[in-house]
Amino acid sequence: MNILVTGGAGFIGSHLVRLLVSKYPHYRIVNLDALTYAGNLANLRDVEQAPNYFFEKGDITDQENLPALFQKHQLDGVIHLAAESHVDRSISNPLSFVETNVLGTVNLLNVARQHWKDNPAGKRFYHISTDEVFGSLGEEGFFTEETAYDPRSPYSASKASSDHFVRAYYHTFGLPVIVSNCSNNYGSYQFPEKLIPLMINNIREQKPLPVYGDGQYTRDWLWVKDHAAAIDLIFHQGKIGETYNIGGNNEWKNIDLVHKLCDIIDELLGRPPGHSRQLITFVRDRPGHDRRYAIDASKIREELGWEPSVQFEEGFRQTAQWYLEHQDWLQGVLSGAYQDFYRQQYAQ
Ligand code: NAD
Ligand code: DAU
Repeated sequence: MNILVTGGAGFIGSHLVRLLVSKYPHYRIVNLDALTYAGNLANLRDVEQAPNYFFEKGDITDQENLPALFQKHQLDGVIHLAAESHVDRSISNPLSFVETNVLGTVNLLNVARQHWKDNPAGKRFYHISTDEVFGSLGEEGFFTEETAYDPRSPYSASKASSDHFVRAYYHTFGLPVIVSNCSNNYGSYQFPEKLIPLMINNIREQKPLPVYGDGQYTRDWLWVKDHAAAIDLIFHQGKIGETYNIGGNNEWKNIDLVHKLCDIIDELLGRPPGHSRQLITFVRDRPGHDRRYAIDASKIREELGWEPSVQFEEGFRQTAQWYLEHQDWLQGVLSGAYQDFYRQQYAQ
């Protein structure tokens, strides 16, 4: 197969590209990425010379050049991850989320539809989405594939909109689509605007640890390589027109997670127990902050046999260790633009 991965230079995309390039030497894996602040070719150094890997710098909103790209690589599958992905940035600049997440997705759908119209057999357009489209849970309950959409941030509204367009192209035009909605990912190569790498970096540097609101918000954390494995499985074995929820069965309140990271890193760096917990600072809450996400992943488990492979203790420890050992990667992304973002985001 010739597969287009969009957003392959980002966090999840780079793990997926690495998996596909090594597992399917007979496939052509094409990575289309605009290299925004979140895209980083250093995430893919180890696969860039592989003969079945092709990088194309480009924007998913580009109506002019994408048809030629489909033609050039004779694409028969798309795994669409390119997106603006950070909730806080969607609060300061909602329009960029509409442009990439909504318009970019519709543009890709149009190009795929056009390219495949005479020969639709065996083609697949797989859209990677988030559990945030379902809104916010109370203390009880889980998101299933049947849960009604209730997005509450500009980010989740833009992802919900893109999900609706993908399904609309299935119903209206018969485009062979699949959608999955996943919980919070963690692991190597995640941009340090997100909770876990931001906290690891600040703990290492002994900077304040900014916990939003009361810290009692809950997320379900999944190791990124388990998400990549689920995407591979769904792309190859999922049913056209279906949706799959993916989750880690690993719920943590933010404050407990930050405590855990403090303890792991203090131990790894030989600091006294409890040392870094003193850096925790409760800061202004995120507007419209969703209280709890939790996924019921029984459909993918029962139909496709997927389950998370890594336990949280091992996963968090490995992740902390990776960031501590990859200071060169971290320093490469902690640019002036990151410092500006940080100052603005965390100004009290
Ligand atoms: P990321 O921000 O790390 O990476 C996004 C990538 O998309 C970057 O490489 C960026 O350069 C690229 N990109 C952005 N705009 C583009 C455009 N207009 N054209 C081409 N490329 C563009 O994101 P991530 O965390 O890896 O998330 C990937 C996907 O998975 C997103 O669709 C996100 O909504 C979804 N998702 C993420 C999580 C999570 O926990 N990170 C969980 C569930 C779903
Ligand atoms: O649920 C899937 C989603 O998970 C993905 O779709 C998004 O792309 C991804 O960014 C993530 O969204 P969250 O908003 O849950 O992730 P984030 O890492 O930004 O925040 C996790 C929790 O930690 C959330 O409750 C907000 C809180 N937080 C975050 C930061 C950055 C803090 O308390 N302090 C912080 O500095």
